Parts: sequence; structure tokens; C-alpha cells
Amino acid sequence: MNIGIIGSGYVGLVAAACFSEMGNTVVCVDIDKKKIDSLKNGMIPIYEPGLDVLVHKNFAKNRLIFSTDINDALESSDIIFIAVGTPMGEDGSADLQYVLSVAKSIGENMKKHILVVDKSTVPIGTADKVREEIQRCLDERSSVLTFDVASNPEFLKEGAAIKDFMQPDRVVVGSNNEDSIQLMRNLYKPFTHSSDRFISMDIRSAEMTKYAANAMLATRISFINEISNICEKVGADVNQVRNGIGSDSRIGYKFIYPGCGFGGSCFPKDVKALINISNSVDYYPNLISAVEKVNNQQKQVLYSKVKSEFGDNLKGLKIAIWGLSFKPETDDMREAPSIPLIKSLIKSGANINAYDPQAIEEAKFYLKGYDINYFDNKYDALEGVEVVILVTEWKEFRSPDFKRMLNLMKGNVLIDGRNQFQKDYISSNGFKYLQIGVK
Ligand SMILES: NC(=O)c1ccc[n+]([C@@H]2O[C@H](COP(=O)([O-])OP(=O)(O)OC[C@H]3O[C@@H](n4cnc5c(N)ncnc54)[C@H](O)[C@@H]3O)[C@@H](O)[C@H]2O)c1
Repeated sequence: MNIGIIGSGYVGLVAAACFSEMGNTVVCVDIDKKKIDSLKNGMIPIYEPGLDVLVHKNFAKNRLIFSTDINDALESSDIIFIAVGTPMGEDGSADLQYVLSVAKSIGENMKKHILVVDKSTVPIGTADKVREEIQRCLDERSSVLTFDVASNPEFLKEGAAIKDFMQPDRVVVGSNNEDSIQLMRNLYKPFTHSSDRFISMDIRSAEMTKYAANAMLATRISFINEISNICEKVGADVNQVRNGIGSDSRIGYKFIYPGCGFGGSCFPKDVKALINISNSVDYYPNLISAVEKVNNQQKQVLYSKVKSEFGDNLKGLKIAIWGLSFKPETDDMREAPSIPLIKSLIKSGANINAYDPQAIEEAKFYLKGYDINYFDNKYDALEGVEVVILVTEWKEFRSPDFKRMLNLMKGNVLIDGRNQFQKDYISSNGFKYLQIGVK
């Protein structure tokens, strides 16, 4: 099939690489010329395991084409995916300006019948707006061209995006048109080969499914974080509690890790957007609002631990931060818990050494104006520090050389935002070990 993908970010580029890997010809478009130029030169603008291999291979085979001109996609494609950003607007709603501007370009430039598919996470009713915008432009051109609009929300996780796209748990397609559903079914057939995981539904339900999925996962995280805060107060150990509840098959272990709050480009923004969507239809979402509130509080939990250990004035305290990205295996810093933590620590007078395996360049952008010493080796960042705070659970932090750490550090406090070590073992190595949800 011939496919166009508009927006070459985390979602668009992964989708383009994976569709081309299955033999489709994909034109991947972005308005960011620098991004497209670097992709043409073989440079991948984001860190996503396995993405470089797929992009290089399919680009070399001419199945993956990069362009800044939407016409290159519209000329040949049967399906055009909209995969641009839908960032949080000032009022918390999803900002649709990029999606609607793509719809406008499609309406102004399309030359044959196409299926337009919303892959971006968009509020319920957006497909109607996209349809109206395209039709408005066609009417202006006095064109009788026809098109259809469908919804195909994306569920990939950054850090495992290729695997998630290649072997999805499900593919959700919202459409009221049987031909469109068939076209999408055929496109996704190679990805759902082993068992039928293609779920078609009406467009609004597909749009809502994406928000409901993210709100559910965010709820589990805020739930365990709230339990962990209670554990700490009552002298229970959330790690043991997690084991105790996760073993119940109705609950399971996934998404009940206590931590320093969820971040990333999706959960915070989508939870906020769902609150906004609910408010716009005169419904107050009690539970989802609480999920957001708990998460905002949780992002301060590591800072509170530092203060409980060293007091409110941290002037001159040297602290190492291990892990900056919002989760491992990505360089994405959007809404990362490390950002408010570092800002609060610096405001209280602390000196920060920071290390991350992939996200340092992104961190420099998100923490511009903050005086931070960045290191490209996790041990170098420990020289002379009183405290090390583990914020992101990259694999290389799982089994560090504790003796070497203590030799480099001036103090011995290890604050673990991911509860990944055995307390007794760390303590016997000479650390003062502070975890989340454990007194
Ligand atoms: N990142 C994720 O893990 C993830 C997962 C599922 C769904 N989503 C959703 O997918 C959508 C895209 O997210 P992302 O993380 O890939 O965003 P991103 O910011 O990484 O990429 C968006 C890209 O769209 C480009 N763009 C903006 N306007 C354009 C236009 N008019 N024409 C062409 N390109 C344009 C931008 O230059 C940018 O490169 C969002 O709605 C997001 O919520 C993201």
C-alpha cells in the first residue's frame, strides 16, 4: 500500500518505519526541515531502541521517503495518517491547531480519494472537525473529490515502541464506513497475523478508548503512590504490599510500581485533557481529577525526602541525580519528574550533578537557565556528593558498584525513586537508603 504519515515524531516516525518494514511505501512528512534533513542523512532525531535499524534499511530500499511537502504524500497515498502533536493547551485541553492545520493542507492539496486517519491522541469529536475542515477547503476549491475520516489511536510505549507497533495488543479503528475498515484491516493484517487483534468501533468510541486506556494506567500509578504514602506513615513497606496485591490475578503486577510520579508526553497531558473533556460536557470527573492531584504531589516526594534528611536550606549540598528522562529507554524529557525535583533542589541552594544515558541534550533544553553539571558517566557524577538520587530506572543503575560509589561520594545517602534495591543489602554496603513508601 502507499501511505502518507504527517508528523515524524515519536509516533509518526515509528509508524512510518514499521509500515515500511512490512513492504508498504511510506512518505513521512514533517514541517520541521531540520528534522527531515537529518532523517535523509541517516540521523534519527530521537532515541528509540531499534528505530535506527528500521529507518536505515527501509530508507535504503526506497520504501521510506522523507519530505517537508505534504503533496509528496498526497499524490501517491491511499491512506494519510495525522500523527502530529496535540500538546496541552493553556486550559488543559488538547491543542488541536496542528491537527487542524494538517486537515487544512489535506483539503487544499488532495488530488484523489483518500482515507484520512487520526493517529494523534485527540478529544472526542475531533474526527468530525477534521472532516469539516477538509470539506470546507474542498468546497472553496469547488472540488467534488471525496474522502473519509477514521480514528486509529496509537498505544505504543516509548522505549518499546517498535515492539509495541510490530506486535500490538490490539489495533483500534473507529469508522462508520465498511470500506475504510477493510482498508485498515488489510494494512494491519501483517501486524495481527498470529491472532485477530483488530477491533473496529464507532469513531467517538475509538477516540475515547485512547483516553480511557491512559487514564486507567495513570490511575493505577497514582493508586499505588497513594498507598505508598500511607505505608510510609503507618510503618508498612509498599514493596511487600505490592507483592501482596499483585499476586491477585484480578489486580496483577503491572503499573503498580511506587515511584516519583508519572511523566512523559502522554499520561499527564491525556489525563488533563480527559478532565477538560468531561468538564466541557458538565461532568466533574472525581476519580481522574484525583489521579492528577496525587501525581502532582508525588513529583515532590523525592524533594521532601532530601529535606527531611538535610533540612529546608540545602545551600552548598552536593547532590547527584541518576536518570533524567521520564522513563528508561527514551530521551524524552516531557513532564519528567526529574525536572521539578532539580528545580526545587536548586532553588533550595543545592548543587546538582546529573547523569542520564540518553537524555542529557534534551535535559539541557528543559532545564535551560539552571546551573547543572552534566556528566557522561554515572560514577563521575558522584565525585564529592552527599546524596545520590535515583530518578529513572535505567538498566545500568540496577547493579552498580556500591563500593566504588561510596568511595567517590562524600556522604552516604542513596534516595531511590524507583525502589529497585534490597534495603538490607544496600544498608549492609554502608548506605543510608531511603525508598518511596518505606519508613
Ligand atoms: N509519544 C508517545 O509515546 C505517544 C504514544 C501514543 C500516542 N501519542 C500521541 O501521538 C501524537 C504525536 O505524538 P509524538 O510524541 O509523536 O509528538 P512529537 O512532538 O514527537 O511529533 C510531532 C511532530 O509533528 C510535526 N508537525 C507539527 N505540525 C505539523 C504539520 N502541520 N505538518 C507536518 N508535521 C507537523 C512536528 O514538527 C513534530 O515533529 C500526540 O497526539 C500524542 O499524544 C504519543
